[in-house]
Amino acid sequence: IAAPDWISSLPKAELHIHLDGSLEAGRMLQLAQKNGVELPYKSVEEVAQAYNFTDLQSFLDLYYMGASVLCDEEDFYHLMMDYLLQCKANNIVHTEIMIEPQTYLPRGIGFEVFMSGFRRAMRDAADQWGQSVLLILSLLKHTSEEECIQVLEMADAWRDDFVALGMASTELGNPPEKFARLFELGKQRGYELTTHAGEEGPPAFIWGSLQVMNVTRIDHGVRCLEDPTLVDYLREHQIALTVCPLSNIRLRVFNAMADHNIVELMQQGLKVTINSDDPAYFGGYLNDNFCAVAEQFNLSQADVLTLIKNGFEASYLRNERKAYFL
Ligand code: ADE
Ligand code: ZN
Repeated sequence: IAAPDWISSLPKAELHIHLDGSLEAGRMLQLAQKNGVELPYKSVEEVAQAYNFTDLQSFLDLYYMGASVLCDEEDFYHLMMDYLLQCKANNIVHTEIMIEPQTYLPRGIGFEVFMSGFRRAMRDAADQWGQSVLLILSLLKHTSEEECIQVLEMADAWRDDFVALGMASTELGNPPEKFARLFELGKQRGYELTTHAGEEGPPAFIWGSLQVMNVTRIDHGVRCLEDPTLVDYLREHQIALTVCPLSNIRLRVFNAMADHNIVELMQQGLKVTINSDDPAYFGGYLNDNFCAVAEQFNLSQADVLTLIKNGFEASYLRNERKAYFL
């Protein structure tokens, strides 16, 4: 889908992007070859055929396999730089990127390896075109709270590199209560707090994220409409939802874009933002997501501007920086 020029050319913020989810098939195959990693695909076409997901877990299995090709500092530089070049192409002037150390640590790849590559690419993009980037330390819900706390402690040496603590991966079977202590420790360390919730999980998981994990932003959250009291709460506190339309279709949260509830979320007065989640896996970067929604629901220019403005307002930028973008 080619996003209409007027949407594409507007400066935007992206708040929900997993860096590993921006690993394009071509780069993945190249790094697999270079690093001697076995993958079940031989071509970009075979990869595209395999990306036929039935739910979140069927995606996550291929997502973690894809990330297994990342090994050295240069690989992580390319991963970050490939995405930041997409930011430039999509007019994403500010982005908040989820980094998931638990995807790399079990293979003996330490923070110094991936953080050096990420930092170098971020510095190059800032120098070359002024790219604004914040990083979110994203821990994985399918792992134990104990393991997450260990990673949080490891990240103490990199505290200034991360603005927020977040959580992703398998939602069903991993309720917010499992991570109460982790988020207490994150709060003590001064992180902003966010988490995936209400993507496949019930409204109760959004409530738990707000009340037990103390998050101030919700990734996805689309299932909130099933609980009117929750909707009231989200509206009153202007808790931002980082909605990912193409992701929701590809992971069968909704059957088709026509069935997506994003317009109703907006009509309910919620602070909705549009994001790409895992663009290399779902077939579209940020402009494609905006375009798909704008086209499907015939959004007015004012609606699109509100969605874009929400992205900056809900960002973790300091107020002066935020004011600069707004
Ligand atoms: N990790 C990467 N993408 C995700 C998603 N949409 N939900 C949960 N975990 C994820
Ligand atoms: Zn996500």
